[in-house]
Amino acid sequence: MSGLLITGGAGFIGGNFVRHWLREHPRDHVVVLDALTYAGNLESLDDVRDHAGFRFVHADICDRETVARVFEEEGIDRVTHFAAESHVDRSILGPAEFVRTNIEGTFTLLDVARQAWDGDRNCRFLHVSTDEVYGSLTADEPAFTETHPYRPNSPYSASKASSDHLVRAWFETYDMPVLTTNCSNNYGPFQFPEKLIPLVILNALEGKPLPVYGDGSNVRDWLHVEDHCRGIAAVLERGTPGEVYNIGGDNERSNIEIVQLLCDHLDRLRPAEQSYRELIRFVTDRPGHDFRYAIDSGKIQRELGWRPEIGFDEGLASTIDWYLDHLDWCERIRSGEYRRYYERQYADRVDKSTG
Ligand code: NAD
Ligand code: TYD
Repeated sequence: MSGLLITGGAGFIGGNFVRHWLREHPRDHVVVLDALTYAGNLESLDDVRDHAGFRFVHADICDRETVARVFEEEGIDRVTHFAAESHVDRSILGPAEFVRTNIEGTFTLLDVARQAWDGDRNCRFLHVSTDEVYGSLTADEPAFTETHPYRPNSPYSASKASSDHLVRAWFETYDMPVLTTNCSNNYGPFQFPEKLIPLVILNALEGKPLPVYGDGSNVRDWLHVEDHCRGIAAVLERGTPGEVYNIGGDNERSNIEIVQLLCDHLDRLRPAEQSYRELIRFVTDRPGHDFRYAIDSGKIQRELGWRPEIGFDEGLASTIDWYLDHLDWCERIRSGEYRRYYERQYADRVDKSTG
């Protein structure tokens, strides 16, 4: 028996990966294991739940017994590990859950896989990580390569960096067939609306302020989630165990540019009395806010033939269309927990806009 375990498959990237994988490998046996935290939503998997080879397990990755049982019962020989606490602002408000899920959870998965696989080098454990582990770049430093030193600055990135180190150690010490991907900021359908792009779209439609941290000059590299999923699939299928692959969009944008672009799209699609740009507010900066991320994805391009295929204009337009068509999904997932988080995160941020 052979099975692919997808942890965090009810979240944004994991869910998109489940759909991508089953489209490309309709006969595969796919097991999603997810704790369904505020960020996980089974509704996001509605279109694949009836698939013959699909199974969902509601469990925490720190629950060793259940994870071990899933490995055994489902014949797990491959893992794509997405499950994580993923939002920087939440990690600042409450870091404990990040240490638990991202570090202890990754440890649990690695250790269960090591025992279940018992030295079988045909298995694959792909750990999905982030460019944020490398820290912050100045405006003109070269982009992150896979050998860039680790300098995480937030509780989120520090917990992801720790998990990357565990994965590396399981290769060096136990010869586990692991692979790590470090990717830049994703955007696309099903992203939880606490992250910049969906938050701005939904706030604009509701006539709420569009909070831009600091002066909006921080730079992120943006990649469409579907391109990221193709990259992960390429690494899972053809990557070399023990190796790290950076995945990025070669698409650096300042935050204010992103917010203005979103406003301009919405001005065309859903014109209001005044431009949505009037809602932009520069607010208190995020503590430890990394200035710039940029990814050098030369290695995965050269070795695995991957490259981003979705242009930013096209990807952003289709993402906005998706949110406009799924306002009911957004409404349902913004639970009481989300509203409490939103209050805590934004209530005290001082509006520093002039004029
Ligand atoms: P997300 O927050 O949308 O989803 C996380 C999923 O993990 C949710 O379904 C949640 O229920 C589940 N989960 C959380 N804690 C769990 C636990 N203890 N046990 C089992 N399941 C648990 O996150 P995302 O944006 O889809 O990110 C997925 C992965 O990709 C993360 O590891 C993240 O670090 C990484 N990543 C994200 C981005 C990005 O831009 N979003 C970029 C690079 C890397
Ligand atoms: P985010 O989507 O949280 O991703 P990350 O912090 O992992 O890069 O934020 C993207 C950028 O947008 C980041 O520089 C912080 C900024 N930001 C705002 O200016 N306002 C907001 O309300 C949010 C959520 C983010």
